[in-house]
Amino acid sequence: MLFRINLPITAFISFLLFLISSCKKDDSNPDCDLSLYNPTPYSINRPQGFAEMIIPADNPMTVEGIALGRKLFYEKRLSGDNTISCASCHRQQVYSFADSTTRFSTGIDGIQGVRNSMAIINSGWGHAFFWDGRAASLEAQALGPVPNPIEMHQKWTDAVVKLEADVNYPELFLKAFGICEIDSIHVAMAIAQFERTMISGNSKFDKFTRGEVALTPSEQNGFSLFNRDKTDFLSGADCFHCHGSQGGLFSDNAFHNNGLDSVFTDLGREAATGDINDRGKFKAPTLRNIELTGPYMHDGRFATLEEVIEHYNMGGHPSATLDPLMKNVGVGLELTQSEKTDLINFLKTLTDLDYLNNPDFSEPQ
Ligand code: HEC
Ligand code: HEC
Repeated sequence: MLFRINLPITAFISFLLFLISSCKKDDSNPDCDLSLYNPTPYSINRPQGFAEMIIPADNPMTVEGIALGRKLFYEKRLSGDNTISCASCHRQQVYSFADSTTRFSTGIDGIQGVRNSMAIINSGWGHAFFWDGRAASLEAQALGPVPNPIEMHQKWTDAVVKLEADVNYPELFLKAFGICEIDSIHVAMAIAQFERTMISGNSKFDKFTRGEVALTPSEQNGFSLFNRDKTDFLSGADCFHCHGSQGGLFSDNAFHNNGLDSVFTDLGREAATGDINDRGKFKAPTLRNIELTGPYMHDGRFATLEEVIEHYNMGGHPSATLDPLMKNVGVGLELTQSEKTDLINFLKTLTDLDYLNNPDFSEPQ
């Protein structure tokens, strides 16, 4: 009896709820049908040996959010004259989401910046972004380039007007975030979701750690040098402290002065924190795909990996904030020529061509 009564009531309530939800429209925008908002959760495909990625609770990953972020990453209308997108300075093909071989990227007004474009690789595991770490999240980072006068040089309000006028974007934002009006915060949230999917974990080194391939003796020796301190009895290149392979990242996500200068034209981390003890410190970048992302360092001063190794081999330049881990300043690592070659051969095992060709990261059609 109870059952016979309850069933029609439940059905009736469901029907009422359905009616309400299908009529739920935003008053200010009659085209905005909130019932279209039904996002599909997405979970990160984490390569073996990688730590869990921390996703901000207020920006959960969804299939719709990622697809929108990918479209926005390639969207030239985010720039003042509709000529450049994020992808103009972060190119998937050949350069692994760094810029081409130029030292400094050029923005829409033909003005060059003073820093080398950074490769976007496994950024979902990062803690702070830009060479000086001034952005605390990928969301905060993505808000930067659009209004930046030497990059995309467009007011966010103008960028949003262009997206609102597009035939597709309003519905894509509605489906991804349940919003009826586009704003810069949600543009940045979508781009950040896309960036968290940009994972490189299929280099020769990854295959080696999974037991699928062997390293050559030269690569193996390079890996040993990378992972060991120089002592009186044994050579070592001492790279692992700041670019350790733990968690698959090849970056400790921290800021160091690795001895590039004694006098600083770019204050680095100090500009972000105001702390004089941070002078000349920069983010230790990942070494993944390093073979492809030259020129190197925050100002692109080294054109080749050979020059980078020479820098570390001569020990670097002293200064008040020089990292204590740069122990061999003034002496150098005293590596032999064949050890330098081995080190470079090891660095090249971090090249992941699948990352450059992954269709999920390319410009959407
Ligand atoms: C004109 C070239 C240019 C454009 C356009 C550009 N970037 Fe960058 N990007 C750079 C440069 C240069 C840096 C390093 C700047 C610095 O440290 O001050 C950088 C740094 C980054 C970083 C930091 C990576 C890390 O590991 O810390 C991310 C992420 C990034 N850009 C994403 C984007 C996104 C998203 C867009 C589009 C909204 C974009 N970029 C547009 C040149 C550009
Ligand atoms: C004390 C920490 C530290 C040590 C030790 C260290 N690095 Fe670095 N590395 C950094 C920092 C910080 C940067 C960025 C510096 C800058 O641009 O001003 C960097 C930059 C690099 C770059 C350029 C990355 C790019 O995207 O431009 C390469 C390549 C590199 N290091 C390789 C090595 C190798 C190989 C070793 C061992 C011989 C090593 N590093 C040892 C901290 C370190």
